[in-house]
Amino acid sequence: MIAKTEFLQRRETLMSKLPVGSVVVVASAEMHQKGNGTEAAFTQDSDFLYLTGFNEPQAWLVLIHDDVRNGQAKNHRSVLFCQTKDKLAEIWNGRRLGVEQAPSELLVDEAHAIDDFEGLLPELLNEQKQVYFLLGSDDAKEAELMLALQLLRQAPKQTKTAPSMIVDLAPMLHEMRLFKSPAELAVMREAAEMSCRAHVRAMKRVQEGVFEYQLEADILHEFAMSGARSAAYNTIVGAGENACILHYTDNNCAVKKGDLVLIDAGAHYQGYAADITRTFPVSGKFSEAQASLYNLVLESQLKAMQVLVPGNTLKQATQVAVEVICQGLIERSILSGSLEYNLEHATWRQFFMHGLGHWLGMNVHDVGNYKVNGEDRPLQPGMVLTVEPGIYIDSQADVDPKWHGIGIRIEDDIVITADGHEVLTQNVPKTIDDIEALMAEK
Ligand code: GLY
Ligand code: MN
Ligand code: MN
Repeated sequence: MIAKTEFLQRRETLMSKLPVGSVVVVASAEMHQKGNGTEAAFTQDSDFLYLTGFNEPQAWLVLIHDDVRNGQAKNHRSVLFCQTKDKLAEIWNGRRLGVEQAPSELLVDEAHAIDDFEGLLPELLNEQKQVYFLLGSDDAKEAELMLALQLLRQAPKQTKTAPSMIVDLAPMLHEMRLFKSPAELAVMREAAEMSCRAHVRAMKRVQEGVFEYQLEADILHEFAMSGARSAAYNTIVGAGENACILHYTDNNCAVKKGDLVLIDAGAHYQGYAADITRTFPVSGKFSEAQASLYNLVLESQLKAMQVLVPGNTLKQATQVAVEVICQGLIERSILSGSLEYNLEHATWRQFFMHGLGHWLGMNVHDVGNYKVNGEDRPLQPGMVLTVEPGIYIDSQADVDPKWHGIGIRIEDDIVITADGHEVLTQNVPKTIDDIEALMAEK
């Protein structure tokens, strides 16, 4: 659980980076209709959630730089707009925090009804110099901000002044989000742990004839029993050649005895994602061809991970993984020619067609720049990322048919530490021996 004070601290940190005369304006997400008066499950905007911890739609956060209140110097004043308490609406659609409770619950200085936003925003922006806003992410929200600026500019006899600059908030806010605090890491460890348990359960439950969506149900049930209402992304359960479809989510086939099953699943827990992939044989025993490619993917992952330490880059680790995979594909006659030739012509790309990893956090593909000033950025403590090499050989591939229909990915989540990294997702087997031993237990 992330403490209320951490959200306040995040707002303070953000505002400490901004010059005098800055206002930050951030909107919540909205409900989406699913059809005929029902609504899709609400997912809060992760930037809004990061700054508020508030999980309701119809809300705005406004932070005004450099206010001094009650004789106590603070670097900003925070104003929240939210839904008001409304008995009938709450009977139909659920509880609301309300304006009265918001200041003590969310540690904001003021709260107002969302209906007052349009009228009050121009006042909050009046005479400020620059507005920080997540540009280009939501046209309707952006239009609300523009309207406020327009109203200021049209004020009678130039009694008011609108900020003259609108600056994208994303780079600054996302740089903060890239570095996880101890509290965030504690939540991410839990998300990872329960996701490991879900993968273990699927390994134990698989048997010939089970449908992929039934394994998905096992995964989701384990998440729920662990305290995570939902998955961080659509769960991928791909048996046999389905594993070669990178974002396969149909999950509607029965698994066959000789198949490998690839499961890519992670819980969404207290706002944070895990992202794990394991690949295992339905029968409990890898075939020779499956084992051969599996060990190659595993070797590439383990060697790449050794490079994922402070000061190195994700790109360096990618090169290591690619070289291992490329060499291994040559040794197995899946590629021909020299290592140099295959690296130069990127021939391996037809079998490993995605990146080695990505930032992980509130979003599964989390925010944060991968480059700084055009250069790949060195890893630093507190960054969390996935390491997920794979090899996918569909039945069309021009290789010995014994490799056809094999798709393998192994994905773990790591946090960079001062002297290396910590693997958050250790507790699900990944060597062939460990997977086969676990599956033999059932
Ligand atoms: N599950 C999406 C990914 O691994 O990036
Ligand atoms: Mn994944
Ligand atoms: Mn991933």
